Amino acid sequence: MIVVTGASGFIGKGTIEFLLKNLPADQIVGMVRDVNKDKELNNLGIEIREGNYQDYQSLLKAFKGAEKVLLVSAHAFTDLTAQHINVIDAAKQAGVKHIVFTSIYRTESAQHSIPWVTLSMKITEDYLKKSGMAYTILRNTFYFDYLPYYFRDVLKEGKLVIPGGEGAVAFALRSDLAEATANVLAQSGHENKTYALIGNRSYSYGDIAEILSKESGKEILYADTGREDFIQKITETGVPVQQAEFWAEWLQAMKMDDMRGDGSNSLEILLGRAPVTLESFLKEVYFSGKTVQED
Ligand SMILES: NC(=O)c1ccc[n+]([C@@H]2O[C@H](COP(=O)([O-])OP(=O)(O)OC[C@H]3O[C@@H](n4cnc5c(N)ncnc54)[C@H](OP(=O)(O)O)[C@@H]3O)[C@@H](O)[C@H]2O)c1
Repeated sequence: MIVVTGASGFIGKGTIEFLLKNLPADQIVGMVRDVNKDKELNNLGIEIREGNYQDYQSLLKAFKGAEKVLLVSAHAFTDLTAQHINVIDAAKQAGVKHIVFTSIYRTESAQHSIPWVTLSMKITEDYLKKSGMAYTILRNTFYFDYLPYYFRDVLKEGKLVIPGGEGAVAFALRSDLAEATANVLAQSGHENKTYALIGNRSYSYGDIAEILSKESGKEILYADTGREDFIQKITETGVPVQQAEFWAEWLQAMKMDDMRGDGSNSLEILLGRAPVTLESFLKEVYFSGKTVQED
């Protein structure tokens, strides 16, 4: 039996939905910290258990009888490392054999460590490897689902204003990452492996402006701006300062090329098909007549 944590979130719930295509519902358990948060989960026909990364006893109960656990990384701005260690320790005590962990993609030479995220991922990966359980580390790239929040009005403004420099990122669709995660959980042979789950191509913000220009038929300029200008522009649209500063940290990592693709095709192999491209995502979001979905 597999326990999927973060079942109320995008990766966790998406993973469960893809798992259900290959496994019977009685082999899947979704763990949430609030059973009332997502009523839709109850319609999937799987068992839902309550568990909180900050409550060790709740984790022991949630992991009872599990062979595998998907540990979805905790939210930024919280004590990520302590929570991840709690989950790993509880899984081990509950007799879990294999943990799959959603970490963060970065190149080997990445220079910009976001203290409260990247560092925690590194510590968690090392702790998991030493746990004695089998592990699979999924180094998830930056979801391109988030890009429209960075430049929602790009077509109206005719320019893409963002502090991205010349750096490029191997973005991927969040749903592709969930599908690959489900395949890792459902198959054998992924024990003690670390996968870079990245798109097949890396895109700079200049490349994105070019795609938008081509699709819209008018020139969209890329304006590489400063960090403070970006934060001011974003906060004026109602985004809280802490969130805007967090986004600026990611953009700094992207600018320094820390998330450029390293040639890994693990995502394609795990999916058994090419990942969705950024071009098709941008067409869908900006040119299909649909409105940008709020998370
Ligand atoms: N690669 C990227 O671009 C990217 C972007 C955003 C986030 N991330 C990271 O990847 C993770 C998964 O992404 P996502 O899109 O699925 O995020 P998400 O929709 O925010 O889901 C996160 C899940 O983790 C659960 N969780 C958080 N703290 C918990 C705790 N103390 N105990 C139990 N469950 C807890 C949340 O439960 P609640 O619903 O109760 O909060 C939620 O179900 C995120 O948590 C974040 O670390 C990556």
